[in-house]
Amino acid sequence: MAVGIFDSGLGGLTVWAKVQERLPDVDFVYLADSAHAPYGVRKPDDIYELTCAAVQRLFDAGCDLVVLACNTASAAALRRMQETWVPRDKRVLGVFVPLIEAMTERQWGDNSPPREVAVNHVALFATPATVSSRAFQRELSFRAIGVDVEAQACGGVVDAIEEGDMILAEALVRSHVDALKRKMPEPDAAILGCTHYPLLQEAFQAALGPQVQVFSQAELVAESLADYLERRPEMIGKGEAAFLTTGDPARVSDRATQFLRRQITFTAA
Ligand code: DGL
Repeated sequence: MAVGIFDSGLGGLTVWAKVQERLPDVDFVYLADSAHAPYGVRKPDDIYELTCAAVQRLFDAGCDLVVLACNTASAAALRRMQETWVPRDKRVLGVFVPLIEAMTERQWGDNSPPREVAVNHVALFATPATVSSRAFQRELSFRAIGVDVEAQACGGVVDAIEEGDMILAEALVRSHVDALKRKMPEPDAAILGCTHYPLLQEAFQAALGPQVQVFSQAELVAESLADYLERRPEMIGKGEAAFLTTGDPARVSDRATQFLRRQITFTAA
């Protein structure tokens, strides 16, 4: 049985690459909803409808477990999907919680009361939809006390990445970090709360300075998923991966190959 990995576009490949490295025997089906990316500027209802349609496509491809490797979908749609839409025999997981557990020094599923943690001033960089959902602050408040979060909506960055314009993407990162620092001059940690942003991790770290600890999701999600799947031997397959897109397969394959520096071939979803 394959594990589905979903993102609006290419960002979720940063998660897939780490998960696949950590779990080489699991089969994956990756779906990029490139025809509708970016999600980060859409309304919550729209994100919900698009995410359900994409996840249904992955269920139809034989995936009983789907990871939303997209913070925007995790923030704006996941809770509603789990409460009203996901069938009993399927699981849909998000990427927010593993990140917050790492930042608040918790093991997977530790639901003990909120407590003080090492970081106090946290900068969150995410899409406009993720920032306005306040899902990060909500999940954090269940686990930590005394953490001051300043969120910066990084308009334009996902579009630039999807277009392959990394010079523009880096310039936008510098300007979003400057804007964040005007609100919070000395963050001690930064969260890259969009799965596209690890492709720009060096630009974020350079603009923030070496003293800021940058948390990026791919490895944290891979660890947490490995933890989950190790208890489900039925998930072991042949280590195969298929890549589907709602956009132009040739164009998406070129960009994906450029980003991951290995051949990735998408077919039509
Ligand atoms: N990579 C996604 C995320 O983690 C989506 C970005 C977008 O489509 O705006 O938020």
